[in-house]
Order: sequence, then structure tokens, then C-alpha cells
Amino acid sequence: MVRRTAAIAIATLVPFAFAFPHSPPLAPKALNDRRYDSPSTAERAQAVINTFRISWDGYYKYAFPHDELLPVTNDFSDSRNAWGASAVDALSTALVMQQKDIVNQIIEYIPTIDYTTTATEVSLFETTIRYLAGMLSGYDFLTGPLSDLAENKDNVDALLKQSISLANALSYAFETPSGVPWNNLFFNNRSNDGSANGLATVGTLVLEWTRLADLSGNTTYASLAQKGESYLLNPKPASSEPWPGLVGSSINVTTGEFLDASGGWVGGDDSFYEYLIKMFVYDSSRFSTYKDRWVLAADSTIAHLTSHPQPRPDLTFVAYYNGQNLSLISQHLACFDGGNFILGGQVLGKQEYIDYGLSLVAGCHETYIATATGIGPEVFGWDPASVPANQTAFFQKNGFYILNGNYILRPEVIESWYYAFRATGDTKYQDWAWDAYLAINATTHVGSGYSSINDVNVAGGGGFQDFQESFWFAEVLKYCYLIQAEEAEWQVAKDGRNSWVFNTEAHPFKVASSS
Ligand SMILES: *[C@@H]1O[C@H](CO)[C@@H](O)[C@H](O)[C@H]1NC(C)=O
Ligand SMILES: *[C@@H]1O[C@H](CO)[C@@H](O)[C@H](O)[C@H]1NC(C)=O
Ligand SMILES: *[C@@H]1O[C@H](CO)[C@@H](O)[C@H](O)[C@H]1NC(C)=O
Ligand SMILES: *[C@@H]1O[C@H](CO)[C@@H](O)[C@H](O)[C@H]1NC(C)=O
Ligand SMILES: *[C@@H]1O[C@H](CO)[C@@H](O)[C@H](O)[C@H]1NC(C)=O
Ligand SMILES: *[C@@H]1O[C@H](CO)[C@@H](O)[C@H](O)[C@H]1NC(C)=O
Repeated sequence: MVRRTAAIAIATLVPFAFAFPHSPPLAPKALNDRRYDSPSTAERAQAVINTFRISWDGYYKYAFPHDELLPVTNDFSDSRNAWGASAVDALSTALVMQQKDIVNQIIEYIPTIDYTTTATEVSLFETTIRYLAGMLSGYDFLTGPLSDLAENKDNVDALLKQSISLANALSYAFETPSGVPWNNLFFNNRSNDGSANGLATVGTLVLEWTRLADLSGNTTYASLAQKGESYLLNPKPASSEPWPGLVGSSINVTTGEFLDASGGWVGGDDSFYEYLIKMFVYDSSRFSTYKDRWVLAADSTIAHLTSHPQPRPDLTFVAYYNGQNLSLISQHLACFDGGNFILGGQVLGKQEYIDYGLSLVAGCHETYIATATGIGPEVFGWDPASVPANQTAFFQKNGFYILNGNYILRPEVIESWYYAFRATGDTKYQDWAWDAYLAINATTHVGSGYSSINDVNVAGGGGFQDFQESFWFAEVLKYCYLIQAEEAEWQVAKDGRNSWVFNTEAHPFKVASSS
């Protein structure tokens, strides 16, 4: 969740002047022709590992231990508090790919991080899903099925020690009248920015903080996150829940009350819904209330937010809402929804949710194959009354138009294909993921790594933004790899009985009931 700045949500959903690429191009010819001698899944998995190693080498040479590589200029940036975000986010992917040298470079480094100080604003949410989750996942693997990859056991113990150190530094965020945390923190003076918090930023802590409590034995971490979450599970005022289970986006930290009634499965809201069912996967005995809220949200989504574009009634998208009014607009970020419905359907034994998830997965696939690059856009719409003049033909043909053509190395579409493949065994989803990987690998590669691009509907991507996000390592390359890789206990289960559950940044945790 993805995801990932919460602020992206509502702001980008308000249609304003975006640069619209010119219409039509079909799926790139190369992708159609290639099918004749398609490589084996083992060869595909190895190709993804090669891309991971190219990205890591560029980062290690020019940016480590800073947060991100700027691949065009061979420079670095520190957008995540300068604690080495790409290194920590890459750990669980290096583990599942069994790249022992990289695993040890990362776990040698992690004990040296000082999580108690930083000069820049700290996001409780981003820090939790990337750093805390990256270390806890590494700990679960290295004390479990991949323990032979660690050269030094002390570095494994340090993953839990550093998780505790980080959580202790963050925990003052929860010292509010309601227990709903502040999200934006200043460690230097233990203050915050005073702003309201968001649905995803409050509702995407509970898996990580509960896992930390279970591993460390300090139940305070779980209590803090679950107290904040309790206001989301029992939303007030009633008007903030326009349909059962579907709630607003902004929460007053003093009162714990919602400030609006708008939202959806989009950025800013997304992983709150994602975690309702994932908590049940993590521990069905402790989190059945969360599952009940997920079922309400899922049923309301199917009943009230389902939308079929006028020129392409065969496609299914999920609309955004303000009260009970719908906006026909969505995002790359929201495309995790298909995978989440599939996971819920498998875990609850309800084919209806799996089928609905598969229809969403197919809709997001269309946003990829319609563009000049074979990569889907950041924001898209399908309101017949709002089609940009120069995308009329594109809309008639494809059933959506592009509102923001950026691609910033996001994972959600491929993530959902991964769940679709695990649930159905249909190799079509492996082919979709391979085609997307080839398109991304060809279009975003530049200089010493891979970069965000400006325009998915211009051949070549319309220019580079010179930024390699840490979730490129954590998510995109992990899902591209796992969908082709052989069976392993950490793969999403085929039958709904999971031994591991993936956080929103794709860091797998061992589930409580199997530990
Ligand atoms: C489409 O129209 C928008 C808005 O007027 C403009 O910014 C964009 O450059 C146009 N795109 C093309 C490819 O002509
Ligand atoms: C448990 O964690 C809380 C929150 O960071 C901390 O205040 C407390 O001291 C910890 N308890 C122990 C026994 O370490
Ligand atoms: C705390 O520090 C931050 C960043 O240095 C600053 O913007 C903020 O105003 C300070 N807050 C207080 C309450 O001093
Ligand atoms: C949150 O609620 C408190 C107490 O009612 C109020 O003083 C404050 O203005 C509210 N903040 C926002 C952002 O609405
Ligand atoms: C929903 O649409 C109706 C009719 O256009 C309008 O009166 C109402 O204010 C809208 N509600 C919200 C929450 O935007
Ligand atoms: C992926 O991109 C790299 C860098 O351009 C290239 O060397 C490699 O051949 C590409 N892989 C595939 C499978 O196309």
C-alpha cells in the first residue's frame, strides 16, 4: 500500500489540470510477439533477481546508507529520516530471493542505526510499515525458515532490539486525549504537527505493533495501536459511515471522531481495510471483530461502489464516495483491492469475494495494457461527463481516461495478480505479471537503477523523475518474483490457511497461531 503518502488521496482525486497524454496506442507489439518462446517460471524468477541485484548494486554504490538512490544523477536522497530506508525495506525481499550476500550487508548495517534521533519530520505510519515491519519480517525469517542465511547471530538479535528501540522512540505519538496517535512527529522536541490524522495512517499500525508485542513480550505496543484502532472500528458520528463498514478519511486526534464521510479503497484509506482481514489472518481468535468490520465494508463495496464504465461495461472498477455520492475515479494505489477481496474470500471460504476480487484484478490489468508503455497510470477516471477532450477515443476504447500519468514504481496491480494466481492457479496471472515486469524493467531502467517516470502513455515513459522508491525493493520486485517462484511456506496459501501474512509494504510476518 501501499502507498503511499496518505496525503495523496483526496488531493489527487480532485480533478484538476493534469497533463494528458495523447490517446490511442495499443499494447506494445513486443509483448504480443514474445509469447512464442516465453521463458519458464524459473527463468522469469531469475530475471527478477537480476533486476533486484542491479538496483541494489546501484543503491549500494551511490546511496547506501542513505534512504534512496537517485539513479540518473548517481546521487542519494533522505526522504525517510536518513535511517537507510532502501536497505531496511530490501531485507525481506533479499531473504525470499535468498541473496545471502545482500542479506548480510543489510543486517550488518541495521545495528548501527540510531532510531532515537532525526532532524526531519517522522511519519508514524511510513516508519511503521517500512522500517519496523522490515526488521520484524527479517527477524521472523532469520529465526525461522531462513536462519542459515545469517552469518552472525548477533545481527539477528539486533533486528528485534532495534525494533524495540524504534517503537519506544515513536510511542509518544499515542499520548493524546483519545489514544488516536499523531502521525507527523518531531523527535527533536517530542512534538507533532497538530494536524488531524487519517484513516490509513491510524489503521495501518496494528499488525506491526501487535507482532512486536508478541515477539518482545511487551503488550504495551499492541495496546497502543489497538486503542487507536478502536475508534475506527466503532466510528462516530454515525454520519461518518455512509454505508455499513465504509467510513470517512480524517480523524480528530483529541476526540477520536471522524471529521468527514468521504473515502474509498484509495490512498489515505486503503490499508485500513486491507488490515481488517489481515489481522484475522494473523490471529483469528483475537481479531474476529476486525473480520466482521471487513465483511461489512466488503459487502457495502460490492453493493454500492461497484461501477462499470459506460463504453466498457465488461470492466469493473470501485468508485470513490463523499457521503452517498459517488465519484468515478480511482488510482494505481487502489488496485490492491482485488487481491484483498481474494484473500478475504479464501480465508472466509466465500467464493463471492474471490470472484469479485478477480473482476477488480482484470479491471486494473486493462489500465496496464491500454497504455503506450504497458504500465498503468497513477490516477484514472471513467465519468462520461468529465472525459478530457483529447482522450475521447482512448476512453471509448479502453473504458477509462488518465488523470495523472506518472508511474512511481508502485506495486499494487502486480500484488493483486499475485493473490489471483495463488487462489486460482491460473497461469494467465503469471503471464500478466511477467509482461508488466518486462515493461517496467525496460521503461524505468536508467543510469544506476530504476526511476519513477512522468507519463505511462508515451513510449519510453516521457522522462525520468530521478527517484528510486524504497518500495521498489520491498514490494514490486518481491511480488514479481514470488508469483513465478516455487512453493515455500511464506507464499500466500492456496487454500486460505496461511502461515505468513504480508504487511502493506509486503513484509511477511509469521502468523501468531503458527508460531
Ligand atoms: C491533452 O490536453 C491537456 C489539457 O488541455 C494538455 O495538457 C495535454 O498536453 C494534451 N495532451 C496531448 C498529448 O495533446
Ligand atoms: C513496553 O513498551 C512501552 C512503550 O514503549 C515502554 O514505555 C515500556 O517501558 C516497555 N516495558 C518494558 C517492561 O520494557
Ligand atoms: C519542534 O521542532 C520542529 C522542527 O524543528 C518545529 O517545526 C516545531 O515548531 C517545534 N515544535 C515545538 C512545539 O517546539
Ligand atoms: C478536535 O476536537 C477538539 C475538541 O472538540 C477541537 O477543539 C478541535 O478544534 C478539533 N480539531 C479539528 C481539526 O477539528
Ligand atoms: C450529494 O449530491 C447531492 C445532489 O447533487 C447534493 O445536494 C449533496 O450536497 C451531495 N452530498 C455530499 C456529501 O457531497
Ligand atoms: C532488465 O533490464 C536490465 C537493465 O536494462 C537488462 O539488462 C535486462 O536484460 C532486462 N531483463 C529482461 C528480462 O528483459
